Amino acid sequence: MIRKAIFSLDPETAHDLVIKSLHVAGKSPCQFLLKQLLACPQGTPKQVMGITFKNPIGLAAGADKNAEAIDGFGAMGFGFIEVGTVTPLAQEGNAKPRQFRLVEAEGIINRNGFNNYGIDYAIENVKKAKFDGVIGINIGKNKVTPLEKGKDDYLFCLNKAYNYADYITVNISSPNTPDLRQLQYGDYFDDLLQSIKQRQRVLAEQYNKYVPIAVKIAPDLSESELVQIADTLLRHQMDGVIATNTSISRDNVTGLKNAEQQGGLSGKPLQQKSTEIIRRLHQELKGQIPIIGSGGIDGVQNAQEKIEAGADLLQVYSGLIYHGSSLVKELVKAIK
Ligand SMILES: Cc1cc2nc3c(=O)[nH]c(=O)nc-3n(C[C@H](O)[C@H](O)[C@H](O)COP(=O)(O)O)c2cc1C
Repeated sequence: MIRKAIFSLDPETAHDLVIKSLHVAGKSPCQFLLKQLLACPQGTPKQVMGITFKNPIGLAAGADKNAEAIDGFGAMGFGFIEVGTVTPLAQEGNAKPRQFRLVEAEGIINRNGFNNYGIDYAIENVKKAKFDGVIGINIGKNKVTPLEKGKDDYLFCLNKAYNYADYITVNISSPNTPDLRQLQYGDYFDDLLQSIKQRQRVLAEQYNKYVPIAVKIAPDLSESELVQIADTLLRHQMDGVIATNTSISRDNVTGLKNAEQQGGLSGKPLQQKSTEIIRRLHQELKGQIPIIGSGGIDGVQNAQEKIEAGADLLQVYSGLIYHGSSLVKELVKAIK
């Protein structure tokens, strides 16, 4: 019934309403009640990137961009929550409407364009969170920052986030910020990762703690691009890789309502594609860099497929929209 009511609203209004409700629900004693009501098991702890995750199921970036509902999402049973993408400065994102449901396919297309209140706002919220799991902060560049200066935005966010995140994700794979995906290739990628690792070393000394850094990649990669990316990740000894972000391909959804909308496709139509990227990445990385699998997870079977393909941890977003919080419970119970 709740899902039906939520689906009668446009996707972004529904999303904002859910975030506001979870913000309230996340405050104790509501959080205590919510936890009892949802009765999610603790799950099986797992050590990845040098961090102990209480279970391997996480909330993917984009659901809680401004870190306003960490405790509400936490009550659903997630082992980790990735907030963001946040940018140095607040920005409005693209014109609305910018989120579309592909109901028959259980897919979503979004072209939000990193709408967020800026990294300072998110960090204040992270500081207030009482969630007992792992918090990742996903960082990006502002739309107004030219590509050549993009690196400065990532370093700016890295400086700000380092002391408050359990891990940090460098998002260079959103299709909704012009040219952002170019940062995944060639000299741009090499230079970005080198600078990020250098800064990580400085910050590790400054704060006397090591915060792992993961890179989030797109699913729309050719074989040679994937090999090159894996090689660069290994060369720079990145701590993790998130595979994958949303897709610009419409292969599985042609003819469906909203399929022609511009933006990144997520949910079930992305399921197989992201699993294949995980499989190839795992072969190339030879187990040396942990993989966080994301893309169309909507049940235990395909979550397990991603683990068998080489993922160490999993993240969900669209599946939560179509299946609700019981999906988290199912996954936490079953996935090791
Ligand atoms: C509405 C929406 C907004 C998103 N925003 C972000 C974002 O800001 N940063 C990011 O790294 N990924 C973002 N994503 C991608 C998700 O984190 C995830 O990688 C992708 O949707 C695949 O997982 P899913 O099929 O379970 O949704 C967004 C996805 C959706 C549906």
